[in-house]
Amino acid sequence: MATTGDIRKDTGRTVFGWIKSRFPTVPYADLTRVVVETDQRQLPRSHAEKYELKTIWYWYPLYCLGGISFIAFIVLTITGILLGFFYIPDGRLELGASGDLTNPAWRSMLTIMNDIPFGFIIRGMHHWAAHIMIAAVFLHMCRVYFTGAYKKPRELNWLLGVLLILITIMFGYSGYLLPANAVSEGAANILINMSRASPVIGDQLATLLFGDISTLSGRYILRWYWIDVFILPLVGTALMVLHMGLVWLQGVAEPH
Ligand code: HEM
Repeated sequence: MATTGDIRKDTGRTVFGWIKSRFPTVPYADLTRVVVETDQRQLPRSHAEKYELKTIWYWYPLYCLGGISFIAFIVLTITGILLGFFYIPDGRLELGASGDLTNPAWRSMLTIMNDIPFGFIIRGMHHWAAHIMIAAVFLHMCRVYFTGAYKKPRELNWLLGVLLILITIMFGYSGYLLPANAVSEGAANILINMSRASPVIGDQLATLLFGDISTLSGRYILRWYWIDVFILPLVGTALMVLHMGLVWLQGVAEPH
């Protein structure tokens, strides 16, 4: 009969074996040189390498979708920094000069679009890069799924990908709120109601995310600004570096 010690040893071996078969102990520094011949980098070796194929599949462009997602993220970062120089993250309503209710955030958007040189185009680039990133990440996920690239040894990278697509969606949502106009308020009210519908902590969650839960005073803008420009970029960048680091170590799974 197996003793507790045996079970512990076996579990240890299995966990270690699981990790080792996916991330073998190789001199990783050497991987910066061309070491494909040593058989270390590709896990397993790609189909093209193994059979020395010279084929170019007509759907190779689909393998660029991860890279396109990353380029869109870089464009978003650069244009986002530029927008941040002029954007005022304050959505609290005030009585404007002409007697209408406005807020500093929306007024700063108008300044960016009408007065700042290239402001309109920078905002447009930010807007379209966000759309492209969401589409590219989704299509990249479909490519990975339909080529079976999520299977061993790339399961961990699929899971990182799941977190990345959630972060991408959150990026889109938080950016959508920032102009602080009627559309943003509509979107804010939807998430407030969704949060409030969560069991037990519903109201607390909505208050944490939006400041107010019955009438929007505009305080939510500052919170979502921090989510959009600090929390999500921090977590997202770390996960992207890990995700692409794993692709670098394991190689890209080619179609079989
Ligand atoms: C911000 C989002 C993402 C970025 C920047 C990104 C980036 C990349 C890049 C550059 C590659 C190399 C191969 C290629 O481009 O097709 C890759 C591969 C991979 N990605 Fe992503 N990705 C993202 C999201 C996702 C998502 C949502 C999933 C799945 C849920 C995913 C799962 C994978 C897997 C499993 C691989 C390895 C595929 C293979 O070896 O063929 N990624 N990713």
